Amino acid sequence: MIEFRHVSKVYDKKTIVVDDINLKIKKGEFVVFIGPSGSGKSTVLRMMDRTERPSKGSVIIKGRDISKINGAELKRSIGHVTQHTVLHPHLTVEGNIRKAAELSGLKKQDRKYNNKWVKKLLKMVGMDPSRYMDRFPNQLSGGQQQRVGIACELAKDSDILLMDEPFSALDPATRKNLQDDIKRLHDITKKTIVLVTHDLNEAFRLGNRIILMRQGRMVQDNSPDELLKNPVNEFVREFVGWGQNYPLNNAKALTVEKVAIKAPITVSPDMGLIRARRKMQKMKVRTLVVVKEDETLIGIATARDIKRYKDRLGTVSDIVQNNIPVICEGSSAKAAFEALFLGNAGILPVIDGSNRLKGLITKSSLAEKLHQVVWDC
Ligand SMILES: Nc1ncnc2c1ncn2[C@@H]1O[C@H](COP(=O)(O)OP(=O)(O)OP(=O)(O)O)[C@@H](O)[C@H]1O
Ligand SMILES: [Mg+2]
Repeated sequence: MIEFRHVSKVYDKKTIVVDDINLKIKKGEFVVFIGPSGSGKSTVLRMMDRTERPSKGSVIIKGRDISKINGAELKRSIGHVTQHTVLHPHLTVEGNIRKAAELSGLKKQDRKYNNKWVKKLLKMVGMDPSRYMDRFPNQLSGGQQQRVGIACELAKDSDILLMDEPFSALDPATRKNLQDDIKRLHDITKKTIVLVTHDLNEAFRLGNRIILMRQGRMVQDNSPDELLKNPVNEFVREFVGWGQNYPLNNAKALTVEKVAIKAPITVSPDMGLIRARRKMQKMKVRTLVVVKEDETLIGIATARDIKRYKDRLGTVSDIVQNNIPVICEGSSAKAAFEALFLGNAGILPVIDGSNRLKGLITKSSLAEKLHQVVWDC
């Protein structure tokens, strides 16, 4: 999807700010660049859509050398969110989103290009369309403007989204919400996302792959887990605070996949209640996950609900609870912890972007795993 071949950036013929980078980013990856200030992260990102040209080497996007593509066309077709979004002040939220789409080449007569689609984009970034669609930028908070900015970049309908410290100007709570939204959005859209951040927690929460930069070079390029477990040198070890905090950092890097029960006990909605109850007794569980044949999640069925239901000839679909909390693949185990121990979730099915069941987290599966990680058992 994105490839760097021996890419360097030199200013004033002598200041090397990016030094011979070779890199391949695959479709659908969520890559996070992290490193000290001035290490070249933003420059690398800016070379991906030719906001900046490399001094040496080539950048290839989807098999095409981008030095041969019209720069303006390229920028329009790749989403690029910066620290401070600048919206058109005289256009409403909806107007801004439409403008971004038009600039990227989407035509008004496109079937996609309708009111519903604008609403969908706003929902994706966690904004209620009915409240915000008609507002002007000066009627929004900084965090809301940033969300609209992200929606505008999503409107470009590109499969690549570049983000340079998109959340750094926001307060911690807004920041966390937006991080969750981006994570979910990545799960749903499968866009290739490249994000630059200073924030280690953010890198571990979001990235499938973390690239640590120092003085224009990539020092380590690994999964979050690998980065924590096998730092290549002292610099990385210090940067990720491996020393004393190893177990805790390791816990931070845990994703829901690592703490989930891989093959939860499931049941189809048309199974009779008597059989379902027997299955619970046999498998020694009090809750079954209700799924369709293709593993699409429907809800859960509990022993208590079966017992309460008067018609013993009923089926699981009569007592299934649909409106239950779920968690997406790739989310942090911390989010699962919060849902189970601080929220009111009893159990937490793990789903993919198509609502298919991928696992199940219970209080005990989570506690057991955290015990292992924190105390290294
Ligand atoms: N136009 C320019 N002329 C000269 N030097 C530049 C120019 N733009 C950037 N630099 C230098 O290039 C280096 C890398 O900058 P870059 O913005 O990529 O760093 P960064 O890793 O994103 O830092 P930060 O975390 O502070 O955003 C810095 O030392 C910076 O001073
Ligand atoms: Mg920067």
